[in-house]
Amino acid sequence: NLRRLSAIKRRENDMSQRAGADNTVPSENGQRAAELRRMLQAASIAYHVEDSPILEDSVYDRLYRELQTLEQQHPELVVPDSPTQRVGEKAAERFESVDHAIPMYSLDNAFSLQELWEWEARLLRVLGLETERAAALDYVCELKIDGSAMALTYVDGVLARGVTRGDGRMGEDITSNVRTIRTLPLRLNTATPPPLVEVRGEAYLPDAEFERINREREAVGEPVFANPRNCAAGTLRQLDSRVVRDRKLHFFAYTLHLPQGWPAGTLPISQLESLASLRSLGFAVNPHCQHCPSLAEVEAFFQRWETERRTLPYQTDGAVVKVNALRQQEEAGFTQRSPRWAVALKYAAEEVPSRILNILPSVGRTGAVTPVAELDPVRLAGTTVSRASLHNADRLRELDVCIGDTAIVRKAGEIIPEIVSILQDLRPADARAYELPSHCPECETTLVRAEGEAVTRCPNPSCPARVRGQLQHWASRDALDITGLGEVLVHQLVDRQLATSAADLYRLRVDNLTGLERMGQRSSQKLIEAIARSKQQPWWRVLYGLGIPLVGAVTAKTLTERFPSAAALQQATLEDIANIYGLGLEVGQAIAAWMAVSEHVNLLHDLADLGLNLSGSESSAPSEFAAIFAGKTFVITGTLPCRSRPEMKTWIEMRGGKITSSVSKKTDYVIVGEDAGSKLAKAEQLGITCLSESNIETLAADLIVHAS
Ligand code: IVH
Repeated sequence: NLRRLSAIKRRENDMSQRAGADNTVPSENGQRAAELRRMLQAASIAYHVEDSPILEDSVYDRLYRELQTLEQQHPELVVPDSPTQRVGEKAAERFESVDHAIPMYSLDNAFSLQELWEWEARLLRVLGLETERAAALDYVCELKIDGSAMALTYVDGVLARGVTRGDGRMGEDITSNVRTIRTLPLRLNTATPPPLVEVRGEAYLPDAEFERINREREAVGEPVFANPRNCAAGTLRQLDSRVVRDRKLHFFAYTLHLPQGWPAGTLPISQLESLASLRSLGFAVNPHCQHCPSLAEVEAFFQRWETERRTLPYQTDGAVVKVNALRQQEEAGFTQRSPRWAVALKYAAEEVPSRILNILPSVGRTGAVTPVAELDPVRLAGTTVSRASLHNADRLRELDVCIGDTAIVRKAGEIIPEIVSILQDLRPADARAYELPSHCPECETTLVRAEGEAVTRCPNPSCPARVRGQLQHWASRDALDITGLGEVLVHQLVDRQLATSAADLYRLRVDNLTGLERMGQRSSQKLIEAIARSKQQPWWRVLYGLGIPLVGAVTAKTLTERFPSAAALQQATLEDIANIYGLGLEVGQAIAAWMAVSEHVNLLHDLADLGLNLSGSESSAPSEFAAIFAGKTFVITGTLPCRSRPEMKTWIEMRGGKITSSVSKKTDYVIVGEDAGSKLAKAEQLGITCLSESNIETLAADLIVHAS
């Protein structure tokens, strides 16, 4: 798709060059606006005319927003053919074009509750209701159905015409296709129909039908539709209405226009009444619409459907908030493109564009150097994202990324934000290429990249960045679990050379800490105690805390069952380790390589001298780790109050359970945290037991009691 977009762009560039370049040098803003316009136009044609989108909706929306903001701040940049200056896009000329007697407007988007409140404030100003405040307004919330808008005209109660939205002023006559839709009446359900009625609503395809159509297309080698909406739009504009009949389109009505002849006294005066009338006339109206006396209820509606929408058999990408009183709607009126009395409140996008402000190499505890993009902060799937990993040198090259580029950033579910692609067409003239440095940004050691490996590493074991990462890992919950030793403190300890290895932590005195940021006498004392207490931790935790590559907590526990001391592990051969069930040659090699470094062997000696447990087998450990969850499958969703996801994963695996990423009938438990998403909905649908973090701790405690 991006390749296609580039081709379109190139064509346009050629054309503009041939037309003779502009003499004036455009400003940076002017250049950006022009690039944005070109890109949005190409995307819009691909979407509306070719039924084959090249940009994610959320990306389009953001870029559109950016252009809108630029034009608002610099009105001199507005040109008549800017995508912001029209109601819609040019209609494709396949069906007969017809004028919309009443223009079909689009909706403005709000991407956050904040923007929703701003919308209401504007509305109150327009209606002159600032003094009465919001009490003078009530709303109807509807689900924003992700389909294709249509206008249906009924003359004397009989369906006379169905028209697509087109560019909002002119659409296509698709009456023959509309007639095949079973969920709309061919004759209005009333004995006394008014001479003329126009009903508007959304034609859509239920997910199951969309999947069926795509399966069949795939089977015969036809290109599949990107999503149910494109499929619905494409279907409505099918020239062969038999094809339309076989694709089971549905229709939800949401607007009733009554230009004339409705019996006085029965005229709807609110959106709620309109919806009721539509229902009684025989239309399907989405059952989940709701009257909301204030924005607080609107918020609740939006939040409720953010999760529950996943249980619906069709797609919805937000809520449409409409002023309920038709008189107030009329008073508020329209802007060039959209009604002031309605707004689409969109669900958090999982893919948005953002500018790469800088790229910085980051050195991890194993020495791996990762290029990290610093982004212009964007809201993405409910959180603000300002960094995204670019992984390694190969990925940098693959993406062809420069500082200054506009990147598409994705965060699907729980996954850490990543850069999916670069919008090459939006690359500014002053973009700077980036390559990983040849020397460590922390200690200036020459970086190495082993043959056949994607990772570039700092080989210096005392590199401050590596030491910081190691100490943080050592203190983490599954390792030595030292509360109070966080990132900021570790940074200071390493900076001041108070700690160059885990062993140094056990040599710290209170007066070493009291001088540090936010460290008083009491907190210093507490930390020293926490560090001292960690000496009691079992051998497997020490082994895990060493941070040997490939030795996670579960592997560490397995290893210590077979090798009950550091000395035994040091003497183990590659085969000894590789033969342990569940481990393999790689783990053996990783351990051998780690043990071959003299600093590491010294560290083991120091730790033993300082009184840490470098021996003791897990079998003598308390029954806390009995395989109480053996055979059970868990899924984690949302943010847990205490443990991070990897920590929870380890915690469960330590007890014999298994973690999978998606909920199915085979899932035994779903562990639910804050901002849980679709997985919770799915679990509820399947009747799977959902547990909070504290629930599962209680469950574990109960199971231990039963087991012993
Ligand atoms: S009201 C002037 N209500 O969203 C009123 N639109 O982004 C405009 N849509 O073109 C439409 N569900 O295709 C309205 N409950 C709903 C809707 C809805 C989906 C679509 C419609 C519109 C687009 C605007």
